[in-house]
Amino acid sequence: MSDRYALIGNPVAHSKSPWIHAEFARATGQELEYGLVEAPLDGFAATVERFRTGGGKGLNVTLPFKQEAFRLCTRVSERARQAQAVNTLVLETGFGDNTDGIGLVRDLSQNLDYPFRSVLLLGAGGAAQGVVGALLEAGATKVLIANRTVARAEEVAKRFPGTAACGYESLPTQAFDLIVNATSASLADEALPVAQSAFHKKTLAYDMAYGRETPFLAAAKRAGARTSDGLGMLVEQAAESFFVWRGVRPETRPVLAKLRGS
Ligand code: ATR
Repeated sequence: MSDRYALIGNPVAHSKSPWIHAEFARATGQELEYGLVEAPLDGFAATVERFRTGGGKGLNVTLPFKQEAFRLCTRVSERARQAQAVNTLVLETGFGDNTDGIGLVRDLSQNLDYPFRSVLLLGAGGAAQGVVGALLEAGATKVLIANRTVARAEEVAKRFPGTAACGYESLPTQAFDLIVNATSASLADEALPVAQSAFHKKTLAYDMAYGRETPFLAAAKRAGARTSDGLGMLVEQAAESFFVWRGVRPETRPVLAKLRGS
């Protein structure tokens, strides 16, 4: 029987992860199955345990369970500890990792070939916390965290030296190399109160959401900024999880190209 993996979350129905991991497995000659597990909101730990005792080797974790997964682990990587969230579980050992941050950074550096120093990070929830450490490690010299609830951004900034916090009304007018939308506003197709003047021609506006043009990306485009959705981040974080589980690093470019239909 091939080794079993899955994405656990709620909801998970429309995830591209099974297809992505099937492509990785085929390309690297690894024997594995990757499925979807929807856990009830109050039944994450029990669902993980059932998957494990049924022979499951590993899980990717998505909304809304990444923080709960972190608390469930017996050992976590440094990047998961920084993010206080886990998106990759190794079930035999109880080890937890977080590949979201490196996924974003690899998409920026390898797929988009986009060097950056100054970053404006929109949002201070789980998605934002998952990438701050990796952005700093990748060489960001300035990371400003803007959030609707400023106190939340201040709390995150306190945990990461080299970052600062503000509200949307007090955004500086300087040009940032990179503006990352890590809020959940895109999921609801809500616009963010970011002034058009925040987007400069030399800015890359990156939305972690994918699959459509969000109000954030539309606003950036209108201002003449370069834009990217988060599809590359999805593929890169998946590749890093695959590496954590299998010790083999799959090529991501062909998979991303297929997903984009090119
Ligand atoms: P996630 O794990 O996806 O980050 P979360 O922890 O609920 O989810 O965080 C959601 C983030 O999106 C927060 O930064 C939230 O701002 P608040 O902390 O002020 O709630 C942000 N967000 C969601 N909808 C928003 C909107 N319409 N405008 C601005 N920010 C929004």
